[in-house]
Amino acid sequence: MTSIRELPQLIGQSVTLDAWLTDKSGKGKLQFLKLRDGSGFVQATVFKPEVSEEVFEVAKHLTQESSLRLTGVVRADERSPSGVELSVSNLEVVGGSGEYPITPKEHGIEFLQDHRHLWLRHRRPWAILRIRDAVERGIVDFFAGEDFIRFDAPFFTPNAAEDSTELFEIDLFGENKAFLSQTGQLHAEAGALAFGKVYTFGPTFRAEKSKTRRHLLEFWMIEPEVAPSTHIDNMALQERMVSFLVRRVLEQCGEELTLLGRDTEKLRPAAEGNFPRVSYTQALELIRETLASGELPPNVSPETQPVEWGDDLGAPHETIVGSKFDRPVIIEKYPAAIKAFYMQPDPEDPRLALCDDMIAPEGYGEIIGGSQRIHDYQLLKKRIDEQGLPLDAFEWYLDLRRYGSVPHAGYGMGLERFVAWVCGIDHIREAIAFPRMLTRMYP
Ligand code: 4AD
Ligand code: MG
Repeated sequence: MTSIRELPQLIGQSVTLDAWLTDKSGKGKLQFLKLRDGSGFVQATVFKPEVSEEVFEVAKHLTQESSLRLTGVVRADERSPSGVELSVSNLEVVGGSGEYPITPKEHGIEFLQDHRHLWLRHRRPWAILRIRDAVERGIVDFFAGEDFIRFDAPFFTPNAAEDSTELFEIDLFGENKAFLSQTGQLHAEAGALAFGKVYTFGPTFRAEKSKTRRHLLEFWMIEPEVAPSTHIDNMALQERMVSFLVRRVLEQCGEELTLLGRDTEKLRPAAEGNFPRVSYTQALELIRETLASGELPPNVSPETQPVEWGDDLGAPHETIVGSKFDRPVIIEKYPAAIKAFYMQPDPEDPRLALCDDMIAPEGYGEIIGGSQRIHDYQLLKKRIDEQGLPLDAFEWYLDLRRYGSVPHAGYGMGLERFVAWVCGIDHIREAIAFPRMLTRMYP
């Protein structure tokens, strides 16, 4: 059996293809069938004098999304995006199709999301989810090339690790409770102290009540963790990984990016590395100056207020900082008070944490959050107490500081945030096959 992707190498040959009909046109003696098979898209022509009467009748009455087995000759065709067309000599219907709901006309996003199980068959999801796959393979290749081992963290966890208000609680047979993991980081730290360089890659869960274009309840995160390591090493690793992944997509996904209408010139600088770095304090200054100048990037309201030192950046602030650069920018050293309990204080100014967020350009905002971790037992215990976290759930985590502790660091990148930026799509829900959001659990 041949796939559509292979057809350009088979010009002049007769092939058999299993495919679905996406659209049909034609009149009189000629029928044009638009086909897809998952590997790509191609047009087939059924010309009455070249097929049996029965086959021509079948072709004339085909319905959208019928599955077909076709035989025909591959012909060069300059007008086709793949450069080929199929001249059908025989075809049979494998599975008929009733009134298919997603017609070639325009549909609203809610309708399409309600039919996500079918919408996946269409070109836009095809391009986006193939890019996601290329990124997933890129991640595995990148970390293998840097001598990391993949280390799978559990999805049920005994403790909160990020914001404890965003935890999904699970009832364990009415006796104990557990939580769905918000991050694999804490378990990855145990992995790093055992293996040196590890990364987790799996789904994570956040009970985010905010409805934004950047938040899912369930998203996939890549979390490398290295021991020993520092904040400086950590930022360098982030930059190497992100530029590697952008290069990968540019090299392997030309057809998909074209289909999405992505301006690839806007991605090229990120493929080179050299990501600029600004401190949190410098970022506040940049935001203040930009708001005062009135020259705001798209989607930033003129009502936006500057950030007071000590407050976190909101989405419009990240958009402003991101718009100053042609590639991702790293904002480092946020106030410790607005960051997670496990972050190492900056020895030069203990009000600050040795942490960073990577902000993608073009308004995509934060794609990575990372930090050096507290390695001192007493300090970590104090932070757990201060935050009112249950000490018994963290005894195992404190053990990592009791026995041969060492400065170590890591970060997390949200896969869907990265894919949304690279694809140039405006909502993260399209970067995953079946998005889970406050307003979306079906299908
Ligand atoms: O900044 P966050 O919360 O960092 C952590 O979870 C750390 N424990 C990671 C680490 O150091 N190992 O989340 C990391 C990234 C964000 O930068 C963002 O890309 C993504 O995860 N993210 C989300 N993506 C989609 N939907 C959500 N609700 C997300 N929350 C975070
Ligand atoms: Mg963050």
